[in-house]
Amino acid sequence: MADKKVILSGSTVTGDLTIGNYIGAMNNWKKMQEEYNCHYFIADLHALTVAQDPKALRERCFSFFAQYLALGLDPENNTIFVQSHIHEHAELAWILTCLTPMGNLNRMTQFKDKSSNTKNINAGLFTYPVLMAADILLYQADVVPVGEDQRQHMELCRDLVVFWENRYGEGTLKMPEAYIGKAGARVMSLQDPSKKMSKSDENEKNFVSIIDTPKKIQKKIKSAQTDSDTVVSFDQEKKPGLANLLTIYSVLSEKSIDDIVKDYEGKMYGHLKVDLADLVVETLKPVQEKYDDLMKNKDYLEQLMAKGASKARVRAADTLKKVYEDTGLIFRA
Ligand code: TYM
Repeated sequence: MADKKVILSGSTVTGDLTIGNYIGAMNNWKKMQEEYNCHYFIADLHALTVAQDPKALRERCFSFFAQYLALGLDPENNTIFVQSHIHEHAELAWILTCLTPMGNLNRMTQFKDKSSNTKNINAGLFTYPVLMAADILLYQADVVPVGEDQRQHMELCRDLVVFWENRYGEGTLKMPEAYIGKAGARVMSLQDPSKKMSKSDENEKNFVSIIDTPKKIQKKIKSAQTDSDTVVSFDQEKKPGLANLLTIYSVLSEKSIDDIVKDYEGKMYGHLKVDLADLVVETLKPVQEKYDDLMKNKDYLEQLMAKGASKARVRAADTLKKVYEDTGLIFRA
């Protein structure tokens, strides 16, 4: 384990995971779990940047944890944990906040998007990328598999390593690399293919959640927005809705887009939509069965959360100790 590269990634506990999250992130997490020393967590502290009903948040944390396991993340081989269970995340986030220039945070496009749709904006939403950097740097992660929307946050994280080294010297924080997959790094909304599919979208027709019923999945995909042409071809500019469906199809079937386009020569969009809906339903069937079983046993989930936290804590505490040394804080004896 010691010589394996360290992977870290997480997802904010809002809504339910979508096929966008799965295709852009978890599908890659799953592929990496044999070869690397993987750390996957549920970002419950990040979820607090928007107002949450406490009871619903607690329930959603169990649900997210179960969704990770149901998607095939193995708690034996990986370290799977809950962010708030490791208090070092919040501590390092504060220390990094004091190193982060306001100007860098002002440039974050995700903050601009989110704050334009939110009435009561809190400071946590603004400093959100710093907590994300703390998540990554605490585990000395080599590689961070994420979707395209996290690219700018990853750049801030890398900038913070440089700022740290300029102030305190090298050897404490590791420079991480983002891993952004080639296909499906930005799955788009089903009704508005100009924006990304998001699990916190108010209109649930825009996304397919991984725990949607087969009926819902079929309805959502069949009503996905496409253009008025009839020829199935991949054209990101002129046919963004269809291009999105073809991308989802290609990643889930592991077929090339060219091959799929050939299969639908002379057929209508409707045929493709019906087949894609069936493919999504079939892909998610075993995931949903496993998820339902796991959600019946919260004690078991709690045990796994505790096990994950005790594994994660070792690495996190080690980094924080070095951070205390660098910054001049006295490490508690
Ligand atoms: P979150 O919860 O929004 O999304 C989880 C992962 O899914 C990817 N993703 C997508 N990929 C393709 N198409 C989409 N439509 C799509 N929507 C989401 C995201 O890029 C992400 O990889 N800030 C993060 C959570 C986080 C984190 C971290 C990630 C907190 N700390 C440390 C990596 C490392 C977020 O809100 O992701």
